[in-house]
Amino acid sequence: MAPCKMEQIDLNLCGLTFDNMKIGICSDHAGYEWKTDLVAYLSGKGYEIVDYGTNSTESMDYPDVAHLLGRAVSDGTVDKGIAMCGTGNGMAITLNKYPKVRAGLAWNEDIAALVKQHNNANVLVMPARFASFETALKMVDTWLNTQFEGGRHQRRIEKIPIQN
Ligand code: RB5
Repeated sequence: MAPCKMEQIDLNLCGLTFDNMKIGICSDHAGYEWKTDLVAYLSGKGYEIVDYGTNSTESMDYPDVAHLLGRAVSDGTVDKGIAMCGTGNGMAITLNKYPKVRAGLAWNEDIAALVKQHNNANVLVMPARFASFETALKMVDTWLNTQFEGGRHQRRIEKIPIQN
């Protein structure tokens, strides 16, 4: 890796992030191995990671950890979240119960980009039994480094909450 120079504008070019972003992460047993490796990967890039479990490959119920992450994203304890289970659906369904959470399921790099560009997903959900870990790393990097497009997509996400 090339040495970093102070005058570089985009510090991400150094492979590190300096914006102090706090990312919450959770998985059930199906996503545990991905979670362990992602915590190491993202910590190595300078992100602050809060791990909400699970802590082994022993079978457990995904809502038990999804609620911890959903609450943390909603109350601002973390800036963003990453969640994994076998299909991703259990995590996404549970997380999206929280009004401030937009949890988007992605299974390839293009969808990981679109879920940020169009839906401004603040939680990335991935299916640990239906993608490779290599793809997961690409999805995470893409989602973190893609910008929300706003405009018509802002209008659309504003229509998501149930109107009373
Ligand atoms: C666990 O077997 C599986 O049901 C879970 O990981 C997930 O796919 C649920 O949505």
